[in-house]
Amino acid sequence: MQHATERSQSVRPIRKRPTRQLPFPLNLYQTAVGKKWVMAITGIALLGYIFAHMIGNLKLYYGPADMNAYGDWLRHLGYPILQNSQALWLMRTGLLAAFVLHIHAAYSLTMMNRAARPTGYQSQRDYITADFAGRTMRWTGVIVLLFVIWHIMDLTLGTPGVSGEFIEHDPYNNVVTSFERPLVAGFYVIANLALGLHIWHGTWSLFQSLGWNNPRLNGVRRHFATVFTVVVIGGNLSFPIMVQAGVISQENRTTPYGQDYDTPTDDLGGDAALGSPVVVTQEADR
Ligand code: HEM
Repeated sequence: MQHATERSQSVRPIRKRPTRQLPFPLNLYQTAVGKKWVMAITGIALLGYIFAHMIGNLKLYYGPADMNAYGDWLRHLGYPILQNSQALWLMRTGLLAAFVLHIHAAYSLTMMNRAARPTGYQSQRDYITADFAGRTMRWTGVIVLLFVIWHIMDLTLGTPGVSGEFIEHDPYNNVVTSFERPLVAGFYVIANLALGLHIWHGTWSLFQSLGWNNPRLNGVRRHFATVFTVVVIGGNLSFPIMVQAGVISQENRTTPYGQDYDTPTDDLGGDAALGSPVVVTQEADR
């Protein structure tokens, strides 16, 4: 009798069996393996975005004409088949879906792990296999989430009190006036260091989640994760640092081609609306 009670306590199922079978692929997502796949695939999409975003932001070094023309190009992507910003909204929707699924999969995997080990570890965990980046994934993930919320309010929405001197469709001005504030520049540096730890471990472990973990490939995986992280985070860190150093500044509002640059607006029509920067010829050139 006593045995029966002990057994019923020790072999409690981790999760209740679902009363009805969910259709594919939702039934796969019920399992730990399915959640790991979702984390890995959405992780690849998010890594692709932050890589492309960093490359696009390198236009800051070319000056406002190039940076703002790039923003304009993004808004008119797919024209004339797609209208103003439709492609951009499609990409934003995909990005948001990937972000939400990534967080949901991470959260529910954590809940599954907790349910599987309700009393916690009795001894020190084996931290040889779980390095610092791996152990801090939840914390770096939370910092990145808070950063992205701040970042969108700062540079996309132009929220008063969060942004610098925000001007719609003038990302060059918005980045510079935002990063000129030392506290904000410091926050971008810290958030990107946290992002670095997160993507370094993420890039390494997504191969594991997808089952591509042949020991012979481990060296390549680690190198790829390191190079990718250094390139993306190196680029991202350079922006607030270079604004603080005065290398990227409002002085650069005169482009390398000797033309003053004015903010493009969509209501100008013609070439201006399609992405060509509005160029005001200097006195001397007239
Ligand atoms: C210091 C480095 C960064 C710079 C200079 C930068 C710059 C910008 C700018 C200028 C925009 C506004 C684009 C516009 O609507 O005109 C933007 C939007 C955005 N950024 Fe960044 N960014 C940086 C790092 C990051 C990082 C690390 C992430 C993700 C972890 C990120 C995610 C986003 C997202 C999700 C948006 C909104 C996209 C949209 O509205 O279409 N950014 N960024």
